[in-house]
Amino acid sequence: MDNRPIGVFDSGLGGLTCIPHLFKELPEERVIYFGDTARTPYGSKAISTVQTYTNQIADFLASKDVKMMVIACNTISSTCLPQLRQRFPNIPILGIIEPAAQRVAFGCDESNRIGIIATKVTISSGMYEESILHHRQGLHVFSKATPAFVPLIEEGIIENDIMDLTIQYYMDDFMKENQIDTLVLGCTHYPLIRRNLERLYPALSIVNPSYEIVAKVQSQLEDRGLLAEENDRENVFYASDLSENFVNMIQKVLETEKSDLILKFKNLDL
Ligand code: DGL
Repeated sequence: MDNRPIGVFDSGLGGLTCIPHLFKELPEERVIYFGDTARTPYGSKAISTVQTYTNQIADFLASKDVKMMVIACNTISSTCLPQLRQRFPNIPILGIIEPAAQRVAFGCDESNRIGIIATKVTISSGMYEESILHHRQGLHVFSKATPAFVPLIEEGIIENDIMDLTIQYYMDDFMKENQIDTLVLGCTHYPLIRRNLERLYPALSIVNPSYEIVAKVQSQLEDRGLLAEENDRENVFYASDLSENFVNMIQKVLETEKSDLILKFKNLDL
C-alpha cells in the first residue's frame, strides 16, 4: 500500500484526457498533474529541447515525492523514456506508447490496415511501428504527422468546420490510399477530436492510448504493491502557464467547475 500521489505529465493540456479514466478506474489514487502550457507544443521542437524540458518536469514531480510517473504525452514518450528511467531508477515510469502498441498488436491481425496519427516528433521517432511490429510482425502499419491539430484543439476550435476541414486536409488521402480501418490516436490531444473523426470516417475502429495507459498504471501498481488505500481527493493540477485555455479545457475534460479544482502555477524556468 502506498498513498503517495501519481505524477502525470504532458507538454500541455492533452494529457488531461487520461485523467477521467484514471479517476474512474483507480478512485483511491491521488494525482499531481503537470502541463507545460507555457512551452507547448513539444511535437514540432528539436528532440534535445524536448529532453531538457522533460527532465525539468520530472525533477519537479520527483520533488513532490510521487510513487510513479506517467508520461501522458506521446511526443515525450517517444523521445525521453530511457533518459528518465536512468535519471530516476527508483521510480516506476510509464510511457503511453507501449501499452497502446500492445493493444494494437494483440487486437489486430494481418487483414487490418493500421494508421497512426501523431505529432512530427512522434511520427519521426518511428516508435509506434517499432513497438507494434516488435510484438507482432507482419502487421500493416502506416503513419501520418498531423501537426495542426494540437494548436486548434488548444484554442478550443473543435466542433466546427475548421477542424473538420483540417482533418480532411491531412487525412483524406492517407485514409483512402492506405485503406485504413484502425486508427491510433497517437497524441493525447486527439481524443478531443474523436467525435469529428468518427463522423468523417464512420467505419473506423479507433484506439485511444489514454485508456491503455490507465490499465497499465493499474497493473503496475498492483504488481508492485503500490495501490493507495484511501484518497483525500487532493488532486493538484500544475501548469507553467495558467492560461484561460488550460482552465477551460480542464473544466471541459474533467466535467467540473474551476472552484472544485486545485490549480497551481509552476514556472520551470526559474
Ligand atoms: N500531447 C502531445 C502528445 O501526445 C502533443 C502536444 C505537443 O505537441 O506538445 O504528443
